[in-house]
Parts: sequence; C-alpha cells; structure tokens
Amino acid sequence: MLNNLTDILVCPVCKNGVRIEEKALCCLGGKHKFDVAKEGYVNLATGHMPGGDSKEAIAARTSFLGKGYYAPAAEVLERAVRDYLPNGSALIDAGCGQGWYSNRMAGQGYRMLGFDLSKFGCARAAKDASLQGLDNAAYAVASVYTMPVSDACADGVLNIFAPCAGQEYARVLRDGGYLFLLGAGKQHLMGLKRALYETTYENAERADLPTAMTPVETRRATFEITVEGQDDIAALFSMTPYYWRTSEADKAKLQALDTLTTEVDMLLYIYRK
Ligand SMILES: C[S@@+](CC[C@H](N)C(=O)[O-])C[C@H]1O[C@@H](n2cnc3c(N)ncnc32)[C@H](O)[C@@H]1O
Repeated sequence: MLNNLTDILVCPVCKNGVRIEEKALCCLGGKHKFDVAKEGYVNLATGHMPGGDSKEAIAARTSFLGKGYYAPAAEVLERAVRDYLPNGSALIDAGCGQGWYSNRMAGQGYRMLGFDLSKFGCARAAKDASLQGLDNAAYAVASVYTMPVSDACADGVLNIFAPCAGQEYARVLRDGGYLFLLGAGKQHLMGLKRALYETTYENAERADLPTAMTPVETRRATFEITVEGQDDIAALFSMTPYYWRTSEADKAKLQALDTLTTEVDMLLYIYRK
C-alpha cells in the first residue's frame, strides 16, 4: 500500500517528499502529481524509459513462480534476509517484476517497496499484495538506475535476476544496510539447455558485481525441479535469455517434451554498505 511507504518515496521530478491525496501521489512541492492505478501501483517513470517486461512475460513468470518451482530459492533468500535484518526493516526490491519475492517478504513482516520498468509487473505485484491483504508492500514503475527514493532510506535492497545498478543501490542503502543479489550460478537450468542444444556450456561468472560496497558472503541455492506439462515448460523457457536466441528447430525439441527435469543453481551475493 503506497500510503504506508510515502516516507521513503520522493517525487521523481523535483525530489521533494510525497503524500497520497485521494487517488494520486503528490509532491510536497505542490507541482507534480501521479495517478495511482486501479491495481494500486503508481507510474513514476520520467522521460523516455523502456517499457520493461511484456504482459505475456509477466503472466508466464507469475504462473511459473506461483506453482512453487522456485520456492526453495526464495527460502534461501528469505533466510539470508532474516539473518541480517530484523522484521519491519524497509527493503527495496529493484527490478521486482511481478512481485512474487517481495510479497512473500511482506508476508513475513518486512516493509517492501518494489520498482520495475514494467507496468504489467507492477500491476500484478500490487494486485497480488492487495489480494493477500498486505498493507506493507507497494509498487511503482521506475528504473533501478534512478529510483525515486531518498538517500540512505533503505535497510536492504533485493535484486533478483534484474539489472545490478550498484551505485544506485549504494545511494539508497543506509550505512550498514545490505544488498541481496540473486542470480544464475554456473549450472543454472543446465537440463533445459541440454534439451535445447547439442553442446552446452556452464554460465559465465557475472561481471556486474557492485564495487562500492563490501562483500559479506555468498550463498548457493541448488536443487532439481521437474517441470510438468508444456505450459510450464514454455513459461520457464520464456523466463530465460535462451528464449530470444534459440532457433525454431531447437525450440521444437522443447515443444515435444511433456516433462523437463533440470538443475536450478542460483547464487546469492550479500554486500554491506
Ligand atoms: C528476469 S525479470 C526478474 C523479475 C523478478 N525480480 C523475479 O525474479 O521474478 C527482470 C525484471 O527486470 C525489469 N527491468 C529490466 N531493466 C530494468 C530497469 N532498468 N529498471 C527497472 N526494472 C528493469 C524487467 O521489466 C523485469 O521485470
């Protein structure tokens, strides 16, 4: 609910604080006003920003995650957050997508503010928060590189399979705050790759780790999943970068499967400001 997170937000244009008036987010400078959509999110994108994930991509991820395939990874993330930050801490989910991870964290008592370039993602996330009765989760369309929040406002930043804007995360974290960066490990979705390609390679190490914060530790979430049915297999495939770079002939191999067993291998990097 935006009402409960206006202490963190600032106007994306003039950087003044904000308040909710009727169904709009208004800056305290009195000049800028952003309508709250019926789902409960607000669009704070300025200038010419790209649109983020499509309606179809958000729907596929919502369906896949909602079936619990990645629940063990969410549990590794949640345990790590609990180890470093107490209940009630303010967390920003940078690149929150459909808000599946954020709404889980809000359900455990954290104050969640999610940003994503996709208005479809923010709409889904806000609607699910409302359906789950979560008044401690709010969502806004904005880039992770220029988040409309004040300096040092957050106890933690979550960044899950989304662009890592290290300088901006350092700006919004308070001193002693934590960044939780979840992404693909070397063996992530190897079974999916084996089903698609003759030759498979391990994922390269990520090259976008933040430099302005102190690394604390790295945890790993590794497990196997069996994805049941073409709808779920297609949803998982559409969540990967391979979706955009696979030939029709190789896609056909995946389309012939009824089940797909694959490794899930995620790395959680934890940094301290
Ligand atoms: C692979 S999805 C991950 C979504 C979510 N964190 C999850 O793991 O379910 C990446 C998300 O990053 C968003 N995104 C990409 N570039 C962005 C940017 N510069 N600012 C904000 N969001 C961005 C996309 O719209 C998409 O929702």
